[in-house]
Amino acid sequence: MQEVKSVRDADVKGKRVLVSVDFNVPLKDGMIMDDARIRACLPTLELLCGRGAKVVLMTHLGRPGGKEVASLSVAPLARRLGELINQRVTVAPEESDLMMLENLRFDPREEEGSMELAQELATFGDLFVNEAFSNSHRNHASIVGVATLLPSFAGVRLMEEMEKLQQALTPPPGSLAIIGGAKFETKQPLIEKLMPHYARILLGGALANDVIRARGLPVGASLVSNTPASVEIASNDKLAVATDAVMEKENKEARTGLIVDVRADERIVDVGPVTAAAWSQMAEDAPFVLWNGPLGIYEAGYTEASDLVAKALSRSNAHAVVGGGDTGAALKKYSFDPAKVFLSTGGGAMLQFLTEGTLPGIEALKNSKPGI
Ligand code: 3PG
Repeated sequence: MQEVKSVRDADVKGKRVLVSVDFNVPLKDGMIMDDARIRACLPTLELLCGRGAKVVLMTHLGRPGGKEVASLSVAPLARRLGELINQRVTVAPEESDLMMLENLRFDPREEEGSMELAQELATFGDLFVNEAFSNSHRNHASIVGVATLLPSFAGVRLMEEMEKLQQALTPPPGSLAIIGGAKFETKQPLIEKLMPHYARILLGGALANDVIRARGLPVGASLVSNTPASVEIASNDKLAVATDAVMEKENKEARTGLIVDVRADERIVDVGPVTAAAWSQMAEDAPFVLWNGPLGIYEAGYTEASDLVAKALSRSNAHAVVGGGDTGAALKKYSFDPAKVFLSTGGGAMLQFLTEGTLPGIEALKNSKPGI
């Protein structure tokens, strides 16, 4: 098996380069709400165009379920990229030096990881670049299949993602991890892996409910996983859950109170203000912070605790690696120094990379067809 090769070391002049990107951006009425994922690919695309390659981009957008859905065409993505890179970007079959293939998920074979589709895609390139970190946990034709057929390289951003996340696995003493989201059992392998390296691991979101319950405390009607957390892990001193919470009862105003006082008909929707203040201070004081997943039900407007931690990170000298859509949204409310705070483009991909140390898309690059 070879090491992953960077696109920086590829001889691309005069070659056709097939690039997998993840331009799966949030759209509202055809408008792009956040173009960070497009911007993240610019260094690779500028490098390729600058060195005289002919670039063919491929991405998925949304979940059209293998059918053509007009509102999920890549046309707005091509337009936005054209503005950012100051070059004409066409959508296939209209050819140019920078062309995008139509939404890969209009073809059901993409998600099936079909080698037949991979072969069709591979005809567009002499070599392949994976610049889709946030999609590299998927065994899809455009991520894994094509890499087995063409000499393959990692994009500039993909290399950076691997390096930063690798650093997060060996942080300096006194570091802090914050993990949110649902289902403790899916995050348990990661939490166990982080445990020896981090001074404290703060748990928010619904997965904290599983630990609160395993500690014999009430969670009322809160969302819990079907698989209870083991008492042995839940009682580890390094794991912290909130001592106070924001609680909501159907059709009633939310209230704050102690976890021990959660009533049977209430659900925990966010970390409470006392805990949030303490955790923000910890985030500000730690030398390094790893954060994935919001502390409350972010999409329902329970953003306060996550925003407080994001604010603390923005004013702290700590280095941090942050990932996940809502966590990133919290961070973007404040200004932060990208040299200190690395905002991963991946949510699920980030968690899987941290847990397993690699991803199917990265392994495919290591096993790619040699040459060039
Ligand atoms: C993402 O947005 O995280 C990736 O593009 C993967 O999208 P998916 O969750 O629809 O597979």
